[in-house]
Amino acid sequence: MTHELVLILDFGSQYTQLIAKNIRKMNIYCEIVPFNISYKEVKEKNPKAIILSGSPFSVNQQNAPIPDLKILNLEIPILGICYGMQLLTQINNGKVIKSDKKEFGYAKIHIENHTTIFRGLSQLEEVWMSHGDALETLPQNFHCIAYSKNSPFAAIQHDSKPIFALQFHPEVVHSKNGKKMIENFLIDISKFTQDWTPESYIDFTIKDIRKQVGNKKVILGLSGGVDSSVVAALLYKAIGDQLIPILVDIGLLRMNEAQEVREAFEDAFDLKLIVIDAGNLFFEKLKGISEPETKRKIIGNTFIEIFEQESKKYPDVAFLGQGTLYPDIIESVSFKGPSATIKSHHNVGGLPEKMNLKLVEPLRELFKDEVREVGRKLGLPEKLVGRHPFPGPGLAIRIISDVTPEKVKLLQKIDAIFIEELYKKNLYNSTWQAFSVLLPIQSVGVMGDERTYENVCALRAVNSSDGMTANWTELPYSFLKTVSSRIINEVEGINRVVYDITSKPPGTIEWE
Ligand code: XMP
Repeated sequence: MTHELVLILDFGSQYTQLIAKNIRKMNIYCEIVPFNISYKEVKEKNPKAIILSGSPFSVNQQNAPIPDLKILNLEIPILGICYGMQLLTQINNGKVIKSDKKEFGYAKIHIENHTTIFRGLSQLEEVWMSHGDALETLPQNFHCIAYSKNSPFAAIQHDSKPIFALQFHPEVVHSKNGKKMIENFLIDISKFTQDWTPESYIDFTIKDIRKQVGNKKVILGLSGGVDSSVVAALLYKAIGDQLIPILVDIGLLRMNEAQEVREAFEDAFDLKLIVIDAGNLFFEKLKGISEPETKRKIIGNTFIEIFEQESKKYPDVAFLGQGTLYPDIIESVSFKGPSATIKSHHNVGGLPEKMNLKLVEPLRELFKDEVREVGRKLGLPEKLVGRHPFPGPGLAIRIISDVTPEKVKLLQKIDAIFIEELYKKNLYNSTWQAFSVLLPIQSVGVMGDERTYENVCALRAVNSSDGMTANWTELPYSFLKTVSSRIINEVEGINRVVYDITSKPPGTIEWE
């Protein structure tokens, strides 16, 4: 990629990815790198500006993260945020102390200088503070450009160089005009041209793929999810028939999902997927298994087995396409959430080495929202592009007992009603993920004059930005009422519907 680049040095703040997302939305390309990146690597990346993130550390701690200081002398614009400000202060002979007036939450800053980073803003601006340390004295050759009640130095600027530092977090939504400040820094001060658009990304990536792949073949496993679909579309545009797109129908997808994906590709691109109907094999292997991690392992291994077998039919394949996204590859020093170790995700790990294939990962620079945008621009139907995340092991981890074809059919019916109603009431896109779970208990009911003793199912809907944390969605009661009565009336075998009101943490999103 030869786009102009903002480099974000990550000191471990929980907000680092937010800085990147904000910048990308301005059509400017940025990368997050660990604070201890080498000077040489930075030179090679040739950034046009640098941002120093916040951190849970104090600069006065002995093991505080300190970058190679040559990076900060590159004579390009620098913006330090929170810890980044304190770091700039300390290395320029200012003093940072543990503040007796910690500031967490909203604060009003008084702007003293409206040129440069605060251009176009008011005298008083609402911002979000989150710090225990503060500046006691200014660093050498810096002056103050904003103050708050508890921070005499809420923002500072170098006297002659384009170096700025903010005590607050402009990247969080609570800093009302924070985006404008970042924009001023990047566009006015650093002179970025805002040419990072989905279209330019597609053009560049297609060229990159062609260069990487040459006239070799690429095999790709499609799941029906957004990421692998967009990878397929990009690869197809780049290399046409050199792409071998395989959809393994594991028998645990949503109702009609495999067929819908196949049709979407045929309609949009004339691209024929190779669909392998492997449901029976999965059911056989899952027979009598109810332990969640064992289910995951069986499904993962069986998937690899089938995929490997199928790929033997194409001996001249040299590459494996994968839908790796940017958050998967950031070498972040941030504290990672616990979910990756609580459940074994990523079922196709191990494939490339086993099959001796090189990887093509055309989405590795994108966040999820950007993947969707690229998918739309490539002409994929909205229904595919806007899809909720769906786990690799599929409905198997939404059946809280052993998995049988009958239970899968039952759950598919329940799920189809829930999702259909979400679309109908315009609630699908405002929900991050929604699904149904088949519980391993029966309950007593009464239908007509008859006593019933049938299955219970749960509905789950959450809002989240990345699946690491999530809030249960406050779906309207009237909506839940419609869904519940449709399920009980239309799905034989269900006589009770419950709604899951657990957030993550302490719950996980999936039940297994
Ligand atoms: P949890 O349940 O861990 O889920 O809160 C977070 C997100 O990950 C999805 N998930 C999986 N995805 N293989 C996958 O590809 C898995 O085994 C798996 N388990 C959970 C889940 O749907 C949610 O979006």
